[in-house]
Amino acid sequence: MTRSKVTILEIQNKKENGQKITMLTAYDYPTALLVDRAGIDMILVGDSLAMVVLGLETTVPVTMEEMIHHIRAVTRGAKRAHIVGDLPFLSYQTSIEEAIRNAGRLLKEGGADSVKLEGGVEMAEVVHAVVKAGIPVMGHIGLTPQTLSKLGGFKAQGRDAEAAKRLIEDAEALQDAGAYSIVLEAIPTPVAKRITESVRIPTIGIGAGPHCDGQVLVTHDLVGLFDRFVPRFVKQYAQLGKAMVEAFETFRREVEEGIFPGPEHGFSMKPEEEAKLEAD
Ligand code: KIV
Repeated sequence: MTRSKVTILEIQNKKENGQKITMLTAYDYPTALLVDRAGIDMILVGDSLAMVVLGLETTVPVTMEEMIHHIRAVTRGAKRAHIVGDLPFLSYQTSIEEAIRNAGRLLKEGGADSVKLEGGVEMAEVVHAVVKAGIPVMGHIGLTPQTLSKLGGFKAQGRDAEAAKRLIEDAEALQDAGAYSIVLEAIPTPVAKRITESVRIPTIGIGAGPHCDGQVLVTHDLVGLFDRFVPRFVKQYAQLGKAMVEAFETFRREVEEGIFPGPEHGFSMKPEEEAKLEAD
């Protein structure tokens, strides 16, 4: 049974009704199909693809073209989940025109339903302009990987009262600018709780505790496909990386020992044709 596309209104209603929102990342067609089949509300084609798919050190180098390429694959696979396209570093920070143009490209060329960008108060004007252009925006505050060097690396944010207050201001500024939702990444549980209570729009947490309106994880972390490092806030629900290595090793052994392919994996000929071949 195909269910209809999850809308922003449904996401908002979930907050109002106290129902949790789920979001996972996907970067390709088969993963998008599976995430959709699992009934996840939203799929984020995150710029984390730079690290977990393209093997880069950080998210900074990923380009608009690469993002669009992956968003297109995901939109072919997922027909129900709301698809969020991540705006890559420097695709929205240079000017409002650039931000609108690039956000529009993720919808027009990629087929995304909305876009996500990083930053709080300092990005409010951009968010306002992009929303005014008709493009729904999800904000992202706390640990914002595109500005990792400024934040001092992959570490929790908002751990003292002053920094926590700034995060609350960031969330309120994003809401006032028209964002429909905000990702809260790697911030203390009490701060995420306070933000979630003080904004009307849904918060989606990653390393932000249980009080957020929803939760997001990077799928490669969740299924054990990325082991360069596993953040403290990740729960691994499967060990697909391990299962894949075992399958590859078994394939190698079976080929080397002549076990694979077996007769059931081959194609036969009519006996008379085979006989002619042999007679030649
Ligand atoms: O790019 C990404 O996957 C993200 C999530 C960590 C929220 O921004």
